[in-house]
Amino acid sequence: MNKIVVIGTSRGIGKELVLELASNPDNEVYALSRSNNDAFSAHTNILFHSFDLESPTVRADAKAIFETIGTINFMVNNAGKLVNKPFTEITAEELQSCYQVNILGIFQTMQAALPFLNENGCHVVNISSMGGYQGSLKFPGLSAYSTSKAAICSFTELFSEEYKDTKIAMNCLCLGAVQTEMLEEAFPGYEAPHQPSEMAKFIADFLYTGYKFFQGKILPVSISNP
Ligand SMILES: NC(=O)c1ccc[n+]([C@@H]2O[C@H](COP(=O)([O-])OP(=O)(O)OC[C@H]3O[C@@H](n4cnc5c(N)ncnc54)[C@H](OP(=O)(O)O)[C@@H]3O)[C@@H](O)[C@H]2O)c1
Repeated sequence: MNKIVVIGTSRGIGKELVLELASNPDNEVYALSRSNNDAFSAHTNILFHSFDLESPTVRADAKAIFETIGTINFMVNNAGKLVNKPFTEITAEELQSCYQVNILGIFQTMQAALPFLNENGCHVVNISSMGGYQGSLKFPGLSAYSTSKAAICSFTELFSEEYKDTKIAMNCLCLGAVQTEMLEEAFPGYEAPHQPSEMAKFIADFLYTGYKFFQGKILPVSISNP
């Protein structure tokens, strides 16, 4: 039985990822998000835990959840918050909130997760964005979002260096556009090349096998040229 934790699961890519992972009866999928999703109730191998990356006690909250789960084999840090505003109009609260969800809360959650990651083999995948990938095309309005997504890329490299002598692997996928509510809210009418279910399948396959080929890597997942 694989125990798989996914953070950020109520909608979009995270929701589809939970359903994709749960389609394998050998998986027990732990969905951590602020809200549940009705689609999960039909699956006995999906276990929802209410979890907020913006909670001031996020590290303790995460520890309490991981204590009920036990040893974790796979983990996907998928939660994200997008702020689309001109640089000078971004408030301190919006900046703080964006960073709390996209990097600070995940950093603290990983601190809590460490004792529970299977020492015989565990793959953690962080979900970043092409906007946070060095040298990629950038978009005005995304200074808070994309810099916080760049931070999780860097975190992946630093965590991997510190744990390179263990069997805990961490990689980071920088996604291009996917047709989700987040994209529609930020860029109404934009047509993305991928549906959330397609991206979820890719992430699930990468989660199962990517650690054999990549460790501590920041990988662009984009069909743009270059
Ligand atoms: N869609 C794209 O084009 C695109 C492109 C590049 C990268 N990405 C990245 O891919 C990931 C998924 O994106 P998406 O488009 O599926 O976004 P989405 O539809 O907005 O879903 C984001 C998920 O994050 C969760 N979340 C937000 N704040 C949270 C918090 N404080 N604590 C816990 N969970 C929280 C939300 O659940 P709750 O509200 O229940 O908490 C939601 O399920 C994100 O990291 C995003 O940055 C997306």
